[in-house]
Amino acid sequence: MSPSTMPDSDKIYDLYGGGFLGQFTRLALLLDVFTPLSSGPASAESVALACNASLEGVRALLNYLCSVQVLEYQLDSQRYALTPSAAAFLVRGAKTFAGDWILANTDPVLWEKMLQTVRSGTAAGYSLPWAQDAWLESYSPSRVAYSLELWHTVGLALNDGQPLRMLDLACGCGIKTLAFAQAHENVWVTCVDSDSVLDVARDLAARFGVEARVTFMPGDILSDDFGEGQYDAALLGLITYILTPEQNAAVFQRAYRALRPGGMLVIDAIMPTAQPAEWASRATLLMNTWNGGAAYPFHVYQGWLDQVGFRKTVQHNEQWLSAIK
Ligand SMILES: C[S@@+](CC[C@H](N)C(=O)[O-])C[C@H]1O[C@@H](n2cnc3c(N)ncnc32)[C@H](O)[C@@H]1O
Repeated sequence: MSPSTMPDSDKIYDLYGGGFLGQFTRLALLLDVFTPLSSGPASAESVALACNASLEGVRALLNYLCSVQVLEYQLDSQRYALTPSAAAFLVRGAKTFAGDWILANTDPVLWEKMLQTVRSGTAAGYSLPWAQDAWLESYSPSRVAYSLELWHTVGLALNDGQPLRMLDLACGCGIKTLAFAQAHENVWVTCVDSDSVLDVARDLAARFGVEARVTFMPGDILSDDFGEGQYDAALLGLITYILTPEQNAAVFQRAYRALRPGGMLVIDAIMPTAQPAEWASRATLLMNTWNGGAAYPFHVYQGWLDQVGFRKTVQHNEQWLSAIK
């Protein structure tokens, strides 16, 4: 056999190796090994006692969590301590707790539903604790730069200090528009999402010092009216691929109405590439299962946008597109 036709078993090991991290984290969350450490470093014995679990099992799990830098091991005292990220996101009861988000994404029920969805071609449906995802996003070190790059790439014009009104639909923590508002003092933002998710956006707006220029509108983008001609720009960030084609067509119609003539709709989504890509295929499998969405290609977006009257639809890269009213 030539080297190129030799089977490579490392490729097969790679097919499941990545799954261990999620499942061990799931075990740690189900046992709740993090909360006993929230009052300070503790021994494996006291964590095992607090979790009502075996010492050997808990020690092995704590050691694993140290090996992936979620916990720290203090050699002198043989105690385990939370890292700042574990303290913020993995301690049940912390304002920024995101453990249920991890549990939802590692739940065997999700994978069972995905199997059903692939078999039947119909979304099995799955609900997620979005506010916890929003907390994670709101502390992501890379998101501010990503957000500013988005607005720069689509060429959103800042009109000489004139107010620029932005509508952020299904905003999550709102970082994409709030980062832009932080960078430009004439930017005003209206954030729309469920009330629990908007709590995170409120917190981030306060951290960014822009809350005086932000309106928080609890609501449902599938049914709410966003008014007529009020906004210079609207953002649909990582939501269109969750929605079905019918839901997208309806949302685009109301986003069109909400924009002033000449206003810009920006879509941050995941679009498939000519060669199958991991990110887009993964998104399609997940979004199909959650709600019947998919990583739709650019020409599908263009069709929906044309239908409601948008013009100058441009695909900027594999993720960003814009259109003008
Ligand atoms: C993947 S997050 C995207 C957050 C943000 N737009 C971004 O670009 O990162 C999806 C968000 O959509 C919100 N969402 C889903 N369906 C919604 C609906 N019908 N009305 C309002 N918000 C919705 C969820 O609460 C969640 O915050």
